[in-house]
Amino acid sequence: MVHHGSVQSIGVPREIFPGEKRVATVPDVVEKLIKLGFKVVVESGAGEQANFSDEAYVAAGAEIAPGAAALWSVADIVFKVRAPSTEEVALMREGGSLISFIWPAQNPQLMEQLKAKKATVLAMDALPRTLSRAQKMDALTSMAGVSGYRAVIEAANAFGRYFNGQITAAGKVPPAKVFIAGAGVAGLAAIGTAVGLGAIVRANDTRPEVADQVVSLGGEFVKVDYEEDGSGGGGYAKVMSEGFQAAQREMYAQQAKEVDIIITTALIPGKPAPRLITADMVKSMKPGSVIVDMAAEQGGNCELTEPGKAVVKHGVTIVGYTDLVSRLAKQSSTLYATNLLRLTEELCKAKDGVAVVNMEDDAIRGLTVTKGGEITWPAPPLPQAAAPAPKAAAPVEQKKSGHGHGNSAPMPAKTLAIIFAVAAVAFWFIGANAPVAFLGHFTVFVLACFIGYMVVWNVTPALHTPLMSVTNAISSIIAIGALVQIAPPEVGGGRPDELIRWLAFAGIVLTAVNMFGGFAVTRRMLDMFRK
Ligand code: NAI
Repeated sequence: MVHHGSVQSIGVPREIFPGEKRVATVPDVVEKLIKLGFKVVVESGAGEQANFSDEAYVAAGAEIAPGAAALWSVADIVFKVRAPSTEEVALMREGGSLISFIWPAQNPQLMEQLKAKKATVLAMDALPRTLSRAQKMDALTSMAGVSGYRAVIEAANAFGRYFNGQITAAGKVPPAKVFIAGAGVAGLAAIGTAVGLGAIVRANDTRPEVADQVVSLGGEFVKVDYEEDGSGGGGYAKVMSEGFQAAQREMYAQQAKEVDIIITTALIPGKPAPRLITADMVKSMKPGSVIVDMAAEQGGNCELTEPGKAVVKHGVTIVGYTDLVSRLAKQSSTLYATNLLRLTEELCKAKDGVAVVNMEDDAIRGLTVTKGGEITWPAPPLPQAAAPAPKAAAPVEQKKSGHGHGNSAPMPAKTLAIIFAVAAVAFWFIGANAPVAFLGHFTVFVLACFIGYMVVWNVTPALHTPLMSVTNAISSIIAIGALVQIAPPEVGGGRPDELIRWLAFAGIVLTAVNMFGGFAVTRRMLDMFRK
């Protein structure tokens, strides 16, 4: 992103990592990159494993480079999937740019090599995922979605029965029971896929806020009988306490006996995968059952997983493939290419074929791990989006308490008494001194606060945004005031002057927008929850 003024070329090499079948751009996206003003060069054979031929790229307007060396030497910006190898960095142009997965924390040596090349590197794994504007560029999410889908397909492949229940001439077939451990991006995709195939799906996660999403996809959320919030901020999980883990193991042991298929996706970024499925649990499963361990690469959620392989132990097939995305290479390449396209649009707002790395932009800043030979990773943290403060763990009774906010600490009795006393004095003072007309309004106001509090505090956090928009719409009750002002004399009593009538009219128009807009937006948001 150096040659300001002249059109830059985007180069897409063939991935060299063993078993990697994805490619960083696809013909449909090539056309769009060209519309943004760039030249696109693709290494011969780059898309072969994902079913995209050189001819298809050429038809979309790309040039073909005969080999890696030729490609890396002409490209101003290289688009890749996997982090480059030492050999690839050596081929890179001094001061060139690269967009790919990098994993800077795990690859300090690579970071030094890129620095020495004076490279500007955007790491797709460093995207600040909590920025809603960044979602369209979120390759981790799109890849996890593909692998969650594929995990279910692998399970179906290894499983000896139908997923859906059927009534056939030969008898009744019960539906398969699937248990999904971890309902992050991959887990949710797996739930949707398994429900789609007709299975009975249950899921568990340490972050309670995902329960609604599990249910909206048609699954059932299985709770651990232990109160502890597993949210570690930024949408990621944290390591749970010993007490929680014991309660969780008990629940998982029970599920292992009941279900036919377990898909594990539990992960805490930067930590080894939590061991959730023990050898004893595997033994207790019905013969012919299947486990797909998506965390195989991080050591596995199941004790008996062998990364990269499918093995049969105690009559249970345990699938530990680490290349689930590559097993759906055409789909994952298309999604990844689209994520890169969205990023390129952000880098080239002028559509003039020149990418500009604007470090003032939060998303771009987060992605940029080296710039012109300086290591800029990690980016300073973004201000947190109203995340609840972590709470201390505390075991609770089996029975759920009726309150929506079970985990908020109760107020000490003394504080409560003081608040009541102060409020009582204040009410007495108002009652004794205020005019009668005011008292009526005041009573309604106090009751409204009370009811509002009871209603709003029982809404699940996931629904807070639609709640805001519907209350916004309801607050348009202002319209009534405006209607009273605009009304003719027989109804309103006393003709208001022209100015007031015009103001009232303007008020009605504006609240109408607020009202209809509010309801429309609420509807759209709720539709997102309905799937
Ligand atoms: P994510 O971070 O979105 O989801 C992980 C989920 O696990 C979170 O919801 C978290 O709350 C939950 N979790 C953490 N500890 C838990 C515990 N002790 N019990 C229950 N739930 C727990 O991650 P994402 O993107 O969904 O990926 C899931 C896994 O799939 C990762 O291990 C990832 O590396 C793997 N993956 C594997 C691929 C393959 O080819 N095998 C491809 C893509 C992802």
